[in-house]
Amino acid sequence: MVLVLSIFFPGTVGGSPSYVVSNISLNWMEAQKFCRKYYFDLASVRNQSENDRISILGSFLWIGLYREKLWSDGSTSLFRYWASGQPTLSDHECVTANFYNSGEWHDAHCSLPYPFICYKPIPPNAGNFGPSAQDETSITLQWDKINNNISFVLQFNGTETNISAPQGNGPINHTVSSLSAGTKYTFILFSVLDSIRSNGVQITAVTAPENAEGFSSSSQNESSITLQWDKRNNNYSYVLFFNGAEIFINAPHGDGPVTHTLSSLTAGTKYTFLLTTVFENVRSRGVQLSAVTAPQNPSNFRPLSQDETSITLQWDKINNNTSFVLQFNGTETNIGATDRDGPLTHTVTSLTAGAKYTFTLFSVFENVRSNGVSINATTGGNYIVALDMNLKTYGRLSDSEIQALLAEVRVYCFFILFCFINISFPYFLTCGFPILTVVPSAWVVASVFHQGYICSAMRCAELLFVIKYLKM
Ligand SMILES: *[C@@H]1O[C@H](CO)[C@@H](O)[C@H](O)[C@H]1NC(C)=O
Ligand SMILES: *[C@@H]1O[C@H](CO)[C@@H](O)[C@H](O)[C@H]1NC(C)=O
Ligand SMILES: *[C@@H]1O[C@H](CO)[C@@H](O)[C@H](O)[C@H]1NC(C)=O
Ligand SMILES: *[C@@H]1O[C@H](CO)[C@@H](O)[C@H](O)[C@H]1NC(C)=O
Ligand SMILES: *[C@@H]1O[C@H](CO)[C@@H](O)[C@H](O)[C@H]1NC(C)=O
Ligand SMILES: *[C@@H]1O[C@H](CO)[C@@H](O)[C@H](O)[C@H]1NC(C)=O
Ligand SMILES: *[C@@H]1O[C@H](CO)[C@@H](O)[C@H](O)[C@H]1NC(C)=O
Ligand SMILES: *[C@@H]1O[C@H](CO)[C@@H](O)[C@H](O)[C@H]1NC(C)=O
Ligand SMILES: *[C@@H]1O[C@H](CO)[C@@H](O)[C@H](O)[C@H]1NC(C)=O
Ligand SMILES: *[C@@H]1O[C@H](CO)[C@@H](O)[C@H](O)[C@H]1NC(C)=O
Ligand SMILES: *[C@@H]1O[C@H](CO)[C@@H](O)[C@H](O)[C@H]1NC(C)=O
Ligand SMILES: *[C@@H]1O[C@H](CO)[C@@H](O)[C@H](O)[C@H]1NC(C)=O
Repeated sequence: MVLVLSIFFPGTVGGSPSYVVSNISLNWMEAQKFCRKYYFDLASVRNQSENDRISILGSFLWIGLYREKLWSDGSTSLFRYWASGQPTLSDHECVTANFYNSGEWHDAHCSLPYPFICYKPIPPNAGNFGPSAQDETSITLQWDKINNNISFVLQFNGTETNISAPQGNGPINHTVSSLSAGTKYTFILFSVLDSIRSNGVQITAVTAPENAEGFSSSSQNESSITLQWDKRNNNYSYVLFFNGAEIFINAPHGDGPVTHTLSSLTAGTKYTFLLTTVFENVRSRGVQLSAVTAPQNPSNFRPLSQDETSITLQWDKINNNTSFVLQFNGTETNIGATDRDGPLTHTVTSLTAGAKYTFTLFSVFENVRSNGVSINATTGGNYIVALDMNLKTYGRLSDSEIQALLAEVRVYCFFILFCFINISFPYFLTCGFPILTVVPSAWVVASVFHQGYICSAMRCAELLFVIKYLKM
């Protein structure tokens, strides 16, 4: 028997082996040849658990141990499982495991035919198995190549895909497509060597979620913008990129759109936002939106001048891009942005003499209005007063004349009353305090007398204006 030189085989089983029990009986050396031809080698048994794994009931089986210490595949394992009284130290140079009795080892004469047990190495699992990229419909998986001989089987959704080992080095990439957005999938990857599979490594990976729909700016004022978008489900959160920062936003519970308000912004400014949906740390591509803050209100809005039928309004320019809307008497007039420097003016014509008008002016930036500023203005001179007691002539007074007039105002007011009486004003008027019944168009008079004196130039002007109006 010349076994000695063929005993060492260049390849010790690493990791856990896959055992195959022969259905024929051969002598030890033929069994070794058979195993090396069809499998890898005769089995090494390196610990009790491997012993248990090869066990079949009721049989003696050749294992790979020879001469009590040499393993056919070159293993250096010191595990021994001799039955009591074994080894016999006779010329029984080969070893069987006795599965009539828990696989305990017995030496035997090498020329006897026994069934035997071969093994193949189970390939190791692939390392670093994980998703390397994903979009809404696909996931790219990546793992380390083991060697040129080890291929892979990817199990997913009840199907298996064979993936051969690539020739080059570097990680293996495999893309699974036709998936649904924002969904978690389970993948199991087996390494395969000579049709023996590793025990498999399982991961979950998700596809990217959809972009948010209905992303829009729902409201804004001078310093803030409120964004909103549709909520798809409670499992998505969001990241808003704005001004170089990332803002993490959880979907609120309950229905309705998601809203987020950004404050401390600058008036009349356009901002750009990128919103990504996040599902299990995977982000959608993102959807972009530009939105503007409301411009500041026009400042110094005032009547610049007026005559009996028109009023000229004036206000400060904001910048080259801000236009205006003037609201008056239920209509709106657009007043375009201007490149010119200096304040803007606008004249409203076809007005009625001696009437008070309310003007509201909005600044407009990218179709967004400021909240508006209102003023009242009257046609006719602000300071036209009757200079004689018969109210025959009118003139415009300087500020100092008005101050002088105010000192005499009681006198004036009496004369005004006389005036009413003289023109047969159809309402009952009484002298004294309180002095008269309120009449249409003349309520200012009432108010003046009720207080006993005129307290401001403006009121005086309105009062006198009424007089003028009545006389015409
Ligand atoms: C048995 O030995 C093999 C090889 O050394 C090892 O991979 C395996 O984990 C061992 N099993 C037990 C249960 O010790
Ligand atoms: C042993 O099994 C192989 C396949 O596993 C089969 O081809 C062969 O016929 C079987 N031999 C015996 C003796 O049963
Ligand atoms: C791959 O298999 C070939 C032939 O089957 C063998 O020569 C080579 O050594 C094997 N390579 C590795 C890395 O196992
Ligand atoms: C994968 O390979 C195995 C063994 O080579 C073969 O039986 C099976 O049909 C292959 N599967 C696919 C989907 O190609
Ligand atoms: C897989 O992708 C990586 C980059 O992610 C690349 O370096 C590598 O070469 C690819 N592998 C193959 C086999 O193409
Ligand atoms: C998963 O399997 C089901 C049923 O076999 C099939 O209808 C579905 O399209 C598969 N999904 C993917 C992403 O392959
Ligand atoms: C602007 O709107 C925000 C949010 O609605 C609010 O908190 C803030 O007080 C408003 N600022 C002004 C100046 O109206
Ligand atoms: C959200 O996640 C929970 C648990 O993770 C899951 O049961 C549910 O189906 C998910 N809902 C949607 C709409 O994906
Ligand atoms: C005005 O608009 C122009 C062109 O749209 C833009 O380049 C400029 O920055 C804007 N200026 C202001 C003050 O918004
Ligand atoms: C406004 O427009 C004028 C004329 O085009 C230009 O000279 C000026 O620099 C502009 N102002 C701003 C703030 O862009
Ligand atoms: C104000 O509106 C009314 C009704 O729309 C119209 O008759 C009147 O002429 C308008 N007055 C001015 C000054 O535009
Ligand atoms: C304009 O006059 C009305 C009364 O006619 C008054 O209620 C309102 O406050 C005035 N508006 C302004 C801006 O003075």
